[in-house]
Amino acid sequence: MTFDIEMIKNVYSNIKERVDAAKKQTNTPLTLAEKILYSHLYDPLAISNFKRGEDYVDFAPDRVAMQDATAQMALLQFMQAGKKRAAVPSTVHCDHLIQAKVGAEKDLDVAKHTSSEVFDFLGSVSNKYGIGFWKPGAGIIHQVVLENYAFPGGMMIGTDSHTVNAGGLGMVAIGVGGADAVDVMAGMPWELKFPKLIGVKLTGKLNGWAAPKDIILKVAGILTVKGGTGCIVEYFGEGAQSLSCTGKGTICNMGAEIGATTSTFGYDESMKRYLDATGREDVANLADEVKDYLTGDAEVYANPEKYFDQVIEINLDDLEPHLNGPFTPDRATPISKMKEEAEKNGWPQTVEWGLIGSCTNSSYEDLSRAASIAQQAVDKGLVTKAEFGINPGSEQVRYTAERDGLLKTFEDLNAKIFTNACGPCIGQWARAGAEKEEKNSIVHSFNRNFAKRADGNPNTHAFVASPEMVAAIAITGDLTFNPLKDTITNKDGEQVKLEAPVGDELPAKGFEVKDNGYQEPAKNGEDIEVIVKPDSERLQILEAFNPWDGQNINGARLLIKAKGKCTTDHISMAGPWLKYRGHLDNISNNLLIGAVNAFNDATNSIKNQITGEYIPVPDAARAYKAESIPTIIVGDQNYGEGSSREHAAMEPRHLGVKAVLVKSFARIHETNLKKQGMLALTFDNPEDYDLIQENDTFNFTNLSDFAPNKSLNIEIIHKDGSKHNITVNHTYNENQIEWYKAGSALNLIKQQQN
Ligand code: F3S
Repeated sequence: MTFDIEMIKNVYSNIKERVDAAKKQTNTPLTLAEKILYSHLYDPLAISNFKRGEDYVDFAPDRVAMQDATAQMALLQFMQAGKKRAAVPSTVHCDHLIQAKVGAEKDLDVAKHTSSEVFDFLGSVSNKYGIGFWKPGAGIIHQVVLENYAFPGGMMIGTDSHTVNAGGLGMVAIGVGGADAVDVMAGMPWELKFPKLIGVKLTGKLNGWAAPKDIILKVAGILTVKGGTGCIVEYFGEGAQSLSCTGKGTICNMGAEIGATTSTFGYDESMKRYLDATGREDVANLADEVKDYLTGDAEVYANPEKYFDQVIEINLDDLEPHLNGPFTPDRATPISKMKEEAEKNGWPQTVEWGLIGSCTNSSYEDLSRAASIAQQAVDKGLVTKAEFGINPGSEQVRYTAERDGLLKTFEDLNAKIFTNACGPCIGQWARAGAEKEEKNSIVHSFNRNFAKRADGNPNTHAFVASPEMVAAIAITGDLTFNPLKDTITNKDGEQVKLEAPVGDELPAKGFEVKDNGYQEPAKNGEDIEVIVKPDSERLQILEAFNPWDGQNINGARLLIKAKGKCTTDHISMAGPWLKYRGHLDNISNNLLIGAVNAFNDATNSIKNQITGEYIPVPDAARAYKAESIPTIIVGDQNYGEGSSREHAAMEPRHLGVKAVLVKSFARIHETNLKKQGMLALTFDNPEDYDLIQENDTFNFTNLSDFAPNKSLNIEIIHKDGSKHNITVNHTYNENQIEWYKAGSALNLIKQQQN
């Protein structure tokens, strides 16, 4: 069983009752996003007129999805919760750790070898705890989720920012950190700030070269990379209904690039067709029974300005193909303006690679439309000027595309077929010559195009486009090629034109696959052993953090006073450290190495108060820990902004830091610190930050009275013996104080379990 029909029945029986109750309570028609949110409240009786963008609300998502890079720490933590099985249907997908180099078969073998211990670990934990496991080569998480698990009106979280892709099947699907996934798998509530709502009305119908990708490329140009922050984007209108389900997925996928919490579409015929084609007629039949609850109310779509916080209208009849980039996905250029823009900005006009794939654009429809361009090139005597690579989204898509001759068409144009995996989209691309860092252009159908993302070369200008435009540009090798009007010289010296792409929304002969790469978990996993080598560099079974001893913290030393911006990247850097995401002790060697020391303006050089030497932050933390000396981190404004990475909270906890005291926190990081059993504190008077000196010692004076809404006091002793007493604040509620007492939220779950 790959999806849980009973769970879906339950969601649909709730949705009617809860949406009706919410309408009564709020006395207003509802958008689709609101219907899904209200029907997934953790406490169904807690319906209220939530203030968008202000109120924090507890939800109960239906599913969890995790990819192999983030699943490691999420599952290591889940193992600490003492649960026998995940509380909601959950899956793990091995797609990030496979490098694209020579082609699918060999690359997959290499990855299975180099990351075997990670895959074995993920496979065995999944098996033990009732989690579905998709082996390396099975496909990209979001394509596999769309094909197997997404369902209209559902709510899902996933440990990857493009989890939002499932909005293409009418879900509210949100990307989160591993700690959030653990909460949901452990049956705890999951908190979200009630989002604002942006409505996008699509009129007309796509035609010619315009594709669903061009809709989101245009929206990104309008809203920019920040414009969707804290918002759910809801698409509606006749234009929305004319799009395929996977096309809707593409649009929702790149909602992550405008910072949106998620994006979604109302249930319609395209979703029904997709559910039917992917073997889920029973889900479609259930959805049909509640279809009015799976889309926004008619009044909302008739007068969107009254119900959305912002409304955008796009006429698909006039939409031009776009190329967005370089270096940012919101720099939107319609193809008719590309020549002018490229010349003006000095972008390399010769395109060296065209890449089709990623979770954004690797569906059967995507491949078939791009293949129709490739076929024309073959028929018209053209050869690709750029190199050409394809990553199919799933084994089901790959197998079907091979059966239908689509892959052969690409191969006839010398394209390389890479593994069904993320590959170049996440920088897993051994691109020959990238190390020379030459200025060059590539086009791809992915979502992100930040410097270095695909090949590590900061001078690669990456442009995002639809798969059909990528195919056309790879053939011509010219960034400024406009297929609507330009001709190409073929090998006989004739001028030929590429006709607009054609393709199949769904395979005419149905999907087919021999081995989809899925491993069903054991019915009873109690006796299954989780495989982690004791000397592994990449994985480490977590030990529970110690509970609080009930005493004041005394004699704590200053570890670092961080100056200015200190994001989760400064606290726990990514890049080469990614491979240690499953090994807390090893990854702790990056603790705060990017933070600026306020006393010498240097990074990763702080005073070890025991010896007086200046040493790297992790070394100093380890030196204090070895002497059982508690430590404190002091920070500036918005400390911990950036990603929801739980490592940024686990590492200081692991290295003996007791409290993080800052002018202000980024909220997710503050919660992560609380979950890991740390004290997350703010200066009552932000100017007290200036009192902190390099050799300070800290004594808490009233921690034993730790209670909600009650400030704490700290005595700071300076090197010359002088003292300051300061007041610090916290936002712990009763339950969070219990986390602190237990040593972590997971310890508390375990205690309650016992
Ligand atoms: Fe993978 Fe790239 Fe999507 S990394 S999950 S294909 S954004």
